[in-house]
Amino acid sequence: MPRLAYVNGRYLPHTEARVHVEDRGYQLADGVYEVVAIIDGRFADLDGHMVRLGRSLGELSIGWPVSRPVLEMIIRELVRRNGVSNGLVYLQVTRGVASRDFKFPEPKVKPALVITTRKVTRFATPAQLENGVGVLTIPDIRWLRRDIKTVGLLAQALGKQKAAEAGCFEAWMVDADGLVTEGCSSNAWIVTPAGVLVTRQPDHMILNGITRLSLLRLAGELGLAIDIRPFTVAEAYGAKEAFVSSATTFALPVTRIDDRAIGDGTPGPITLRLRAAYFSAVAGGAS
Ligand code: PDD
Repeated sequence: MPRLAYVNGRYLPHTEARVHVEDRGYQLADGVYEVVAIIDGRFADLDGHMVRLGRSLGELSIGWPVSRPVLEMIIRELVRRNGVSNGLVYLQVTRGVASRDFKFPEPKVKPALVITTRKVTRFATPAQLENGVGVLTIPDIRWLRRDIKTVGLLAQALGKQKAAEAGCFEAWMVDADGLVTEGCSSNAWIVTPAGVLVTRQPDHMILNGITRLSLLRLAGELGLAIDIRPFTVAEAYGAKEAFVSSATTFALPVTRIDDRAIGDGTPGPITLRLRAAYFSAVAGGAS
């Protein structure tokens, strides 16, 4: 069975899956997306990702390409057909196909839907879990509606490339006040020397991660002290622990920021507890 992709109503071999050259996502980044993990056959936070998709679509006045229940059915069917028990679902909705023009097509066109899956043999390497990963700090050069999960990811692609060239896993973007906003494809967290979990408030300056929301809930259940506020790069350098969260990393320990070791330079216990709690929650979840 070849790997399949879902494109506007059809399940196609991945190698033959195409969208139109005048898809507005392609020309104008006029579209939104979600990434959802599947761990041991269970979706991680599918509900949360669907809720955020609806929000992103609403903020851009793009309609659902199909109803939410139908979309979930298609996702499950693609995952089943591709035999994914550990991996990722990528889904993208754009405003649709229209002759290039900045303003919205009139009359409205049908939103375009693409879904792909990818099998993952391991979500993190043993070295990443044992030693943690490095983060590079860079200026945040993005637009001011980062709460919408759009496919306009050039600033993040440039940031990730810089990080990779510096031997780092992720780049943390920093605003004009020296405060960390988030990672290029993850949310940023620290644990203060007093043991308080700190992550930035979800406003227009960051994407409100679905993993972030689940980790906050789990941290509450574990009785951890939580402070929802921004932190500076200097505070992060002096943190006891640091980590990133996303649908692809869950909670992944950060043990180096720029050229500084964080804490004792090894993955922190709170980070590892939260990571384990997240996996347990997915294992015990509904889907
Ligand atoms: N990125 N912040 C940004 C800028 C992101 O791109 C992401 C996710 C997150 C974390 O959100 P969540 O926990 O819902 O995955 C935060 C995905 C994984 C990606 O682009 O591949």
